Amino acid sequence: MSQNAPRVEVRLPATSTDRQYPIYIGRGTLEQGAILPKLLGDRGVCLVTNETVGPLYEALVLESLGDQRKVTRVLLPDGESHKTLESFGTIVTAALEDQQERSCVFIALGGGVVGDITGFAAAAFLRGADFIQIPTTLLAQVDSSVGGKTAINHPMGKNLIGAFHQPIGVIIDTMTLNTLSEREFAAGLAEVVKYGLIADAHFFHRLLESVDALKRRDQATISEVISRCCEIKADIVNQDEREGGVRAVLNFGHTFGHAIERELGFGQWLHGEAVAVGMVIATRISVARGQIDVQVLEGLVRFLETFDLPTAPPPEMGLDDFMRAMQGDKKVQSGKIRFVLLDGLGGACVTADVDESEIAASL
Ligand SMILES: NC(=O)c1ccc[n+]([C@@H]2O[C@H](COP(=O)([O-])OP(=O)(O)OC[C@H]3O[C@@H](n4cnc5c(N)ncnc54)[C@H](O)[C@@H]3O)[C@@H](O)[C@H]2O)c1
Repeated sequence: MSQNAPRVEVRLPATSTDRQYPIYIGRGTLEQGAILPKLLGDRGVCLVTNETVGPLYEALVLESLGDQRKVTRVLLPDGESHKTLESFGTIVTAALEDQQERSCVFIALGGGVVGDITGFAAAAFLRGADFIQIPTTLLAQVDSSVGGKTAINHPMGKNLIGAFHQPIGVIIDTMTLNTLSEREFAAGLAEVVKYGLIADAHFFHRLLESVDALKRRDQATISEVISRCCEIKADIVNQDEREGGVRAVLNFGHTFGHAIERELGFGQWLHGEAVAVGMVIATRISVARGQIDVQVLEGLVRFLETFDLPTAPPPEMGLDDFMRAMQGDKKVQSGKIRFVLLDGLGGACVTADVDESEIAASL
């Protein structure tokens, strides 16, 4: 992969049915004060971040907002446990108290949790305000910030209250990844390798060749990797915004992954860690069916191990635990669990036709 990281290198149409929006990706995009003002014009802003990301990057964002506009600042507590109706209320109340108008723009500065809550608050504020994503985790940069799914959790389950609401722009500054923990960075890489498996064989091989550069978080390599992931996700979302069909392939590894998260209790394993194991299981089933070469499975396992990601289910989880947990997944349709399998490297298919013995043999 090339050595120079362009400061702003990509402007992708990651669009819904009604509009396109740019995704700016590169090193220092937040310092390039022009990007945000260009997206915002003179509109008011409700800037939402959390107590971890705020001290690191909020000042940079505030600087580029200038002092001519109304800015409401909201600092949420950190963590998935705060992706709640209460945090949603905090954001909306702050914007209302500041008399923000519907023309204001919500800005989500943080990982997927902040992005999801802020997007949902924007979707509901005065029946719908615009929002901008500034994702700061690798997972959020390659996945949650693109595609317009927004949500909060309910005590009965994750992401049960939400809306499809596309941002008006996404600004990805790869420098923000320098402060991310090894574990969170690795969890993001699990979603990265997923894109190679389901959509781009060449990208998968390039990832396997780029592990050293990724390990040292080489900015140019990371920018290119994020760009390709966003392109793939944008392409899939463009075809199927509301997950009526092809978008389901993005859930590769997620049926088993969600089962692990659910069984262990959310937060024990990071989402990306559970997805890593889910992808290994789904790839093994695909190999057993003759849909993919065993070398792909070996390459995947090697890649995950390099980043200390798990490749086997937690020892306490057996077939029955998986089956029970998967039945509770919100992706279940008419009582049928839907699985995403590989169909050649760079291709995926969705099927409900996987029997328990196949799963048992692949755990
Ligand atoms: N909307 C979607 O399409 C979609 C897709 C995938 C996941 N999600 C959601 O995303 C959430 C997970 O996102 P996540 O993995 O980003 O978790 P997260 O938002 O909890 O962030 C992980 C941790 O990293 C910290 N952090 C964020 N950026 C940092 C930085 N630059 N430096 C140091 N620390 C930083 C956060 O404060 C947090 O402690 C889940 O709620 C999941 O449901 C949504």
